[in-house]
Amino acid sequence: PRIVILISGSGSNMVAIADAIKSGSMEAEIAAVICNRPEAAGLQKARDRDLPASVLDHKEFSSREDFDRALMAEIDEHAPDLVVLAGFMRILTPDFVAHYHGRMLNIHPSLLPKYQGLHTHQRALDDGENEHGVTVHFVTEELDGGPNVIQAVVPVYDGDDAASLQARVQIQEHIIYPIAVKWFVEGRLTMAGNTARLDGNVI
Ligand code: GRF
Repeated sequence: PRIVILISGSGSNMVAIADAIKSGSMEAEIAAVICNRPEAAGLQKARDRDLPASVLDHKEFSSREDFDRALMAEIDEHAPDLVVLAGFMRILTPDFVAHYHGRMLNIHPSLLPKYQGLHTHQRALDDGENEHGVTVHFVTEELDGGPNVIQAVVPVYDGDDAASLQARVQIQEHIIYPIAVKWFVEGRLTMAGNTARLDGNVI
């Protein structure tokens, strides 16, 4: 199976998935890494690993629709079975989301449906949560709202700040995202309607 990974930032989840493939834990090919920010650190990490990386800078497009159309065209050149959003910090148009229905995953740093949107770690701290975590979900039109695939929970400790909590969550991100991708490329993970299934069972 062919995977296209979209990134905007440090690319650590991209690295985790690439490492899982390289270690032989799943059969898949990273056909492309596409990044919307020319200065993103993840680009160098992709190149260091011989992943085919390219930049599509959203600032060069006059509208979200134009950018998404160009992105879609570039992704589809690689005929992916799966599109992986790995810290891709753009809100996607409904047409884009519909086009990859059932074959696009995202990772979000909270225990969805809690804390959709930004600044999840600080918001969890402000609310005095004693647990926090991360979710891999299918992407649907509702932002951070598609069906959950897998979650990891971490404790919140006294004295945590957003950075320490984020670091604890990211360790789990790098474990659960490769698992979800592996399930998908092995044909075990599907979405029908708004329901995710693993081996045919609703999750
Ligand atoms: C992660 O925290 C992920 O949960 C969020 O964006 C961040 C991406 O990190 N969606 P990286 O670029 O994979 O290092």
